[in-house]
Amino acid sequence: MAVDLLLGLQWGDEGKGKIVDVLTSNYNIIARFQGGPNAGHTLVFNGMKHVLHTIPSGIFHEKAINLVGNGVVIDPVIFKKELEKLAPHNIDYKKALVVSRKAHLILPTHRLLDAASEASKGKAKIGSTLKGIGPTYMDKTGRNGIRVGDLELDNWKEKYRLLANKHESMVSFYNVDLQYNLEELEVEFFEAVDVLKTLKFIDSEEYLHQAQKDGKAILAEGAQGSLLDIDFGTYPFVTSSNTTAAGACTGLGIAPGSIGKVFGIFKAYTTRVGSGPFPTELFDEDGETMGRVGNEFGATTGRSRRCGWLDLVALRYACQVNGVTQLMMMKADVLSGFKSLKVCTAYRYRGEIIHHLPYNVEAKNVTPIYTDFEGWAEDLTEMNNDSILPKPLNAYIDFLEKELEIPIKVVSVGPDRKQTIFR
Ligand code: GDP
Ligand code: IMO
Ligand code: MG
Repeated sequence: MAVDLLLGLQWGDEGKGKIVDVLTSNYNIIARFQGGPNAGHTLVFNGMKHVLHTIPSGIFHEKAINLVGNGVVIDPVIFKKELEKLAPHNIDYKKALVVSRKAHLILPTHRLLDAASEASKGKAKIGSTLKGIGPTYMDKTGRNGIRVGDLELDNWKEKYRLLANKHESMVSFYNVDLQYNLEELEVEFFEAVDVLKTLKFIDSEEYLHQAQKDGKAILAEGAQGSLLDIDFGTYPFVTSSNTTAAGACTGLGIAPGSIGKVFGIFKAYTTRVGSGPFPTELFDEDGETMGRVGNEFGATTGRSRRCGWLDLVALRYACQVNGVTQLMMMKADVLSGFKSLKVCTAYRYRGEIIHHLPYNVEAKNVTPIYTDFEGWAEDLTEMNNDSILPKPLNAYIDFLEKELEIPIKVVSVGPDRKQTIFR
């Protein structure tokens, strides 16, 4: 059976966690394919809110298996905390959660390296979540990393020591003032590794091949967003993995031909957390309203998210890179009350009008060209049927579908599972 993909089309935080949770009842396996605890995926149901970082967003459904794929980087300390938060929900995670042996581990010294690297960059910093993501993927591609499967070997701590020592000398190379107590960090780390070791480690590519043969329905869950992709994002202000559709192939061991539907998720406007270009960013009252009404604060770091109008140039690019087959528009409710709305349909780039994302998206090169739309006053949060959506919202949706040539199958009107309209 084909594997469906779900991924973010902007700079992350599109609402992936919510939609994975909504869709999980259609799937047997939910498989995270990249990223790590830099992600924060929020689920809201039965009046409760849950934020997941590494654990796939299908974990609250009794029947689904949640798989952490080889493309993911795992910090055992954060993973342990996530498991502890699940405790009140009586989830049998030894059954419901499996971990790829080939997933790489984030060590305490990876976090230190992340902090040192960012501090050394000064104003040019990436705005990393400081979870050690970049240094861990660097060790992966540099062929120095420690993988989950290594924890089953007797000598893994020797390998750990060598790598941690090397990291410490690299930290001092940065020559920044970083206070830390590695011994304390290691006590916490080794305790967390013991908890991680109580989970089932698997050869996940083999597991998924067999599941496909057995006709199981699989949904691959992305993290971050397409504009944070290491290759296709706004480099260097990106994360260190392939967040786009191809990342699901390498991050799970799935063949390209076995990919079925590609669900692309976007907000009805745009947000970004951390540094880097953002052509449609607003610095006025409209941007402030989006942030306040949309409660735009990072689920992982609590930082406020930058807000702006929807950018169709960037969105079209993301749809192309991912081969999106259907779209899901999130947070439409946040736009209620705006007298008029804007959508960026082209850029003025060095005096020329262009419709594609150029190599250099910096503000000094790019001025967005907008089309205006009528706003709507109605509160959408209680609406449960697309036939009652306000006319101006339908006009907004129709325009996006025409421009992108992809149907918008879901309109989300609130954070709760139930606030989801299928079209
Ligand atoms: P993810 O990283 O893509 O899973 O998204 P986050 O969880 O980081 O951020 C999305 C935020 O928007 C969370 O606080 C969600 O609870 C919330 N959310 C999701 N969908 C909607 C929606 O349709 N309307 C509103 N108002 N909030 C939403
Ligand atoms: P989810 O899965 C939004 C951003 C950071 C920073 C850049 C690099 O919740 O959508 P990193 O920690 O990877 O070195 O940070 O990427 N970033 C995210 N922004 N949502 C995320 O994940 C993000 N993960 C990383 O803010 O700008
Ligand atoms: Mg998030």
